[in-house]
Amino acid sequence: MQELITKLSEEVNQVSTTTKDSLESFRLRFISKKGQIAQLFEEFKEMSGEEKKKVGKALNELKKLAESKFKELQEQLDSKSSAAAVDIDLSLPPVADAIGNLHPLNLTRYKIIQIFERLGFNVSDGPEIEDDWHNFSALNFPDNHPAREMQDTFFIEKNPDMLLRTHTSNVQIRLMQKQKPPIRSIMPGRVYRNEAISARAHCFFHQVEGLYVDKNVSFADLKQTLYHFAKEMYGKDIQIRFRPSFFPFTEPSAEIDISCLICHGEGCTVCKHSGWVEIAGSGMVHPNVLKNCGIDPEEYTGFAFGMGIERVTQLRYRVNDLRLYSENDIRFLKQFKSVI
Ligand code: PHE
Repeated sequence: MQELITKLSEEVNQVSTTTKDSLESFRLRFISKKGQIAQLFEEFKEMSGEEKKKVGKALNELKKLAESKFKELQEQLDSKSSAAAVDIDLSLPPVADAIGNLHPLNLTRYKIIQIFERLGFNVSDGPEIEDDWHNFSALNFPDNHPAREMQDTFFIEKNPDMLLRTHTSNVQIRLMQKQKPPIRSIMPGRVYRNEAISARAHCFFHQVEGLYVDKNVSFADLKQTLYHFAKEMYGKDIQIRFRPSFFPFTEPSAEIDISCLICHGEGCTVCKHSGWVEIAGSGMVHPNVLKNCGIDPEEYTGFAFGMGIERVTQLRYRVNDLRLYSENDIRFLKQFKSVI
């Protein structure tokens, strides 16, 4: 054993490595519990007293030598890497920060807000977790009415009165309860519907709704406002049409279509070969809704409308798959220039 100890001591002394890998192999070979020195200590335990006397001291010294060598090499390595860390050329130009851009849905939202702000609308906000009354009942949805089925959503089991709002119309109710007319406001926000019917859609989307309540507000105001919006949003040549429709909270109600921007009326898959694309729902606020909010329908009238931000964005940028908007794929998102 004596010979081996001498040989290993020499080897330890000769090591002068200072790379991370070679330091690690040094540690494995000499320092670790499975290393050669530990091995010798195992053998030492089995020796007779006589033999132990002969090699004990040398073996202990070998252990100390290996440990101090390891420490020394480690220090060398540390100082080398910290020297490398300060080895920076300060005269080089800085690495440029990557500049992000606005999300396409936000670009559209800001554009819509800009258009309506110029018409004197302000912006209102409200909760996404709502109670039945603000989302349905106050909006003239009778209990068990099939219109509720069209807007199935997510309810909270422990408290069936609470739900994720299906439209931002809840903000209209909150606004009319809080503020007396004249009211001229738009409500952008996220809404939820329990519908997995299309592989291209999610259970949530974004809306902008609008509300105008004052004395003598008429259907002509509604038409002119939305016509102006469509021209500002899509260009002067856009055509617009109103189709009779039904919403519990408006009477009369109308669906608003614009002429197809993609085929210009020739017929394509986006407009399902009709030449028209639906962009919003609208109508005159139902007297029951005004009453539910403490506004006298004999004195005041109003119009309301609601549109999906995804749909408007889809027509602006020709994106067909709505899931892309919420997947956070940077390759998709960086294609939109932040110009509102
Ligand atoms: N709240 C309706 C929806 O989400 C849209 C709408 C708003 C229709 C206002 C008419 C008036 O479908």
